[in-house]
Amino acid sequence: MSQKHLLLPMALILCLWTVAQQAQNTFISNTENRTFTDLNGKWNYILDPYETGGMGGRAISDNYEPTDKTGRVEYGFTEGRTLYVPGSWNTQKPELEYFEAAIWYRKTFDKPDLSANKRYFVYIDAANQTATVTFNGKTLGKHEGGYTPFNFEVTDLMKEKDNFLIIGVNNKRDADDIPAKVHDWYNYGGITRGVKLIEVPNTFINNYFLSLDRSSLDQKTKHINGKLELTGTSLPKKARILIPELKIDQEIDVNPKGATNFQVNVKNLELWSPETPKLYNITIKAGEDSINDEIGFRTIETRGKEILLNGKPVFLKGICLHDENPLRKDRANSIEDAELVLGWAQELGCNFIRLAHYPHQEKLVRLADKLGILLWEELPLYWGIQWENPEVLKKAKAQYAEMINRDYNRASSIIWSIANETAPIPSRNEFLSEMADYIRGIDQTRLISAAIKKDQELDGHPDSVYTYNDPLIEKLDILSINEYLGWYGGLPEACRTKSFTSGFEKPIIISEFGGGALQGFHGDKRTRWSEEFQEDLYKESIAMFDKIDGMVGMTPWILVDYMSPLRQLPGIQDGWNRKGLISEKGIKKKAFYVLKEYYSRK
Ligand code: GCU
Repeated sequence: MSQKHLLLPMALILCLWTVAQQAQNTFISNTENRTFTDLNGKWNYILDPYETGGMGGRAISDNYEPTDKTGRVEYGFTEGRTLYVPGSWNTQKPELEYFEAAIWYRKTFDKPDLSANKRYFVYIDAANQTATVTFNGKTLGKHEGGYTPFNFEVTDLMKEKDNFLIIGVNNKRDADDIPAKVHDWYNYGGITRGVKLIEVPNTFINNYFLSLDRSSLDQKTKHINGKLELTGTSLPKKARILIPELKIDQEIDVNPKGATNFQVNVKNLELWSPETPKLYNITIKAGEDSINDEIGFRTIETRGKEILLNGKPVFLKGICLHDENPLRKDRANSIEDAELVLGWAQELGCNFIRLAHYPHQEKLVRLADKLGILLWEELPLYWGIQWENPEVLKKAKAQYAEMINRDYNRASSIIWSIANETAPIPSRNEFLSEMADYIRGIDQTRLISAAIKKDQELDGHPDSVYTYNDPLIEKLDILSINEYLGWYGGLPEACRTKSFTSGFEKPIIISEFGGGALQGFHGDKRTRWSEEFQEDLYKESIAMFDKIDGMVGMTPWILVDYMSPLRQLPGIQDGWNRKGLISEKGIKKKAFYVLKEYYSRK
C-alpha cells in the first residue's frame, strides 16, 4: 500500500479515536435522573489472570461461540458462571479473595425500542482500577481510576437484539497508579458500582454547574452563577432554567460551542446548612432535553483561622470513613449502605465526614446533601505516588475532573483534598502545587486541603511544640494534620506535654488521629488493642487538640473497622484495620462515647 494510501486510514483511525475519546470525555452528570436501562444484576465473567484479553487468536471481546463441532475457542462465557454488578469479585467468590489481575464481564441485552432520534451511552459509576469497554465486538476505550464515573457512546453500534457489552476490569496495583502499589485498604476489584445504558436526545445537556455567588451572600437579592454544557450537532440558541419555589423561569443564551455561562437573581433564598439542608427542585431545559435535580446553595470560605459557612464560623465535628459496608464486606454501592454509615455518623453527633481516601459512591454524597452533613472529598494521591511521572499527573487531573464534574452541585461537599501523607520532596511539591492550581481553575466554590503528616514522630521531637512547615501548606486553604501521638509514637500521656502549631494564618483540621481496639477486648488503659486503651487515647488526644489555636475541626480515624491486607495481627486484626469506633459487626466501642460526648459540647 503506498504511503498516501496508508495515511488515509491512519487519519480516519485518529479521527475515530478522537471521537471515541470525546464520547468518553462527554461527561454525563446526574444519571439517576435521566432515561436509562439498568444493566445491574448477574453478568457472565471470564478469568484472565495473565491479562491476555483472549487466547489462540481470538479476543474475549469478540464474544465468539463455535457454530459447529469443529469450532475452536479456549474460553467462554457460560451461563453458570456469574458475578453480581455492582459488587467486587473478591467477596463474591472465595477463590477471588486476593485476585489481582483481569476479569472480563459480559452483559447481553435487547433494545426493542431503539430510536433513531436518541443517543446511547454506556455509563459506569466505577470499576476498580482500569476498565476496557467493548460493545458488540468494538473496543470503545479504556478508563483508569477505580472511583470515578465514566461513559462511552454506543449509538452507532446499538442493535434491537443480542447486544453484548464486554468490559475487562483489571485491579492490579502498579507503581504509576493512583493510588500506587501500597495502600491501607482492601483492593476490591471489579465493577464495584452500577452500570446503565443512558438514552439522551441527539443534542442534550451533558452537564451543568450551579453555585451561590459569594459576593451576594449579604444581599437581599442573591446571585446564582450557572454554566451549561450541551453536546450534539443541533445546538439550540436558548435554554431555560426553572426553580419553581423561587419563581424562576429564565431563558439562557446558548453559544455556538454549547457551553454557556449565566446568572440567576433570586429573592428569599434559603441557604443550605447542616441545620437547614434546604434543597431546591431545579429543571434545566434545552432543545428536546430536560433534566431535573435537587440543589442546595451555600458559601464556604476561610477568614484567618476560621472556616465560614454562609459567612458564619463553623466547627467541623467530623469522622473519617472508607467507602465500605463492613457488614457485607464489600465496597459500598447502595443507598442502604450510605444510610447505614451516615446514620452512625449522625449518632456520633457529626456534621462533617472525611470521605477517605478516594471518591465515594454518588448516592452517599447526595444523601449527605439531604441530611445536612458536610463532606471532605479526595483523590487517592496517597503515600508513594510517582510524582515525577507526567502520565500520573495527567491521570490525577482527569480523575479529579471526573469527581468535580460529578459532585460540583452538591452543597455538602466543601473541601477538595489533594493528598494524604506524602513526603515533602520537590517533585511532590511541584505536582501538588499544579494540582491545587488546576482544581482552583475548575472550581472556586470549595476549599482545598491535604492531609499532612509531620516528617517525624512528634514524640521523638525535642521541643514541646512542633511547627508544621511543609511547603505545600502555602497552596492550601486549610492545614489538615494526621497526628498519631500516643499510638504510633509514645503513649497517650505524651499528649499532655506536646502540642503543635504552624507558621500560617490558616484554619487547622485534625484530619486523622486514633488507635486500634478489638471490640469486646477489655483490659486496663495501657493494654494495647483494648477498648480502654483506645478510649483513653481519645480522651488525651482531644484534650491536646482542644488547646490548639485555630483548630476548627477534626475527623478522627475512623468511624468503623474496615478491611485492609496490611493488618494481619492474628486474633486482633486478621485483615481488618481496627481503628474504628465501631466494629465490623456494627458494635460501638467505648471510645465512640468519648467523641460523642465531646461533640455534644461543641
Ligand atoms: C494513615 C493513613 C490511613 C491509615 C491510618 C492507619 O494515616 O492515612 O489510611 O489507615 O493512618 O495507620 O490506620
